[in-house]
Amino acid sequence: MTPHIGAAPGSIAETVLMPGDPLRAEWAAKTFLDDPVCVNSVRGMSGFTGTWKGNRVTIHGSGMGMPSLSIYANELIREYGAKTLIRIGSCGAMQENVGLRDVILAMTASSLSTPSTGIFRELNFAPCADYGLLAAGVESAKRIGTPCHVGGIYSADVFYDERPDLNEIMTRHGILGVEMEAAELYNLAARHGVRALAVLTVSDHLLRHEALPAEDRQSSFGDMVQIALEAAFA
Ligand code: ADE
Repeated sequence: MTPHIGAAPGSIAETVLMPGDPLRAEWAAKTFLDDPVCVNSVRGMSGFTGTWKGNRVTIHGSGMGMPSLSIYANELIREYGAKTLIRIGSCGAMQENVGLRDVILAMTASSLSTPSTGIFRELNFAPCADYGLLAAGVESAKRIGTPCHVGGIYSADVFYDERPDLNEIMTRHGILGVEMEAAELYNLAARHGVRALAVLTVSDHLLRHEALPAEDRQSSFGDMVQIALEAAFA
């Protein structure tokens, strides 16, 4: 057990899907996994372990923002032996050709800072996805028929951003979308030699000022879970 995860040793799978929202972790586990068992509920941050097509999988919440994700990802990797971590979450689109409900597979994640900034100091480390997971995610999205974009995203420190100029710079440099967790997930994966990918559904559009209706979010979320599972076990 760790300070934030009460799971018994051995009860977390080597493959972990990480939605920000713990309620989504429960929904995804009960919808996609066989025999899901709740393995963590410390601070309401649910984690469930079950099987998908015979493969052991844990679906565990990350919370919102990189400091929260860092706590769970560190403990999952260092104490529970997680080897493949796939973020499944939402993002805001930053390009005109990216639409609501589209999926973005984050090849890289730019940031102003991450919890790892203190380690990297003057180094601008380039956090990137595991290529095998990324390529398998593309194939899965094609097979399912989900419009999918591959490229760089921006992992922001704040949701209520007082620097609109930053979004404009990101858009001008081809960044596809903004979320708040992937860069640190990729940093940690690099540090510990494990695989990571962020699979994101576009829930809002920063240029068009549109947002996905609440009733559409569940089905888009389901596509992401499917893509993440197929990528993990390709
Ligand atoms: N997650 C979903 N939409 C977002 C946005 N606009 N900014 C940051 N994180 C997000």
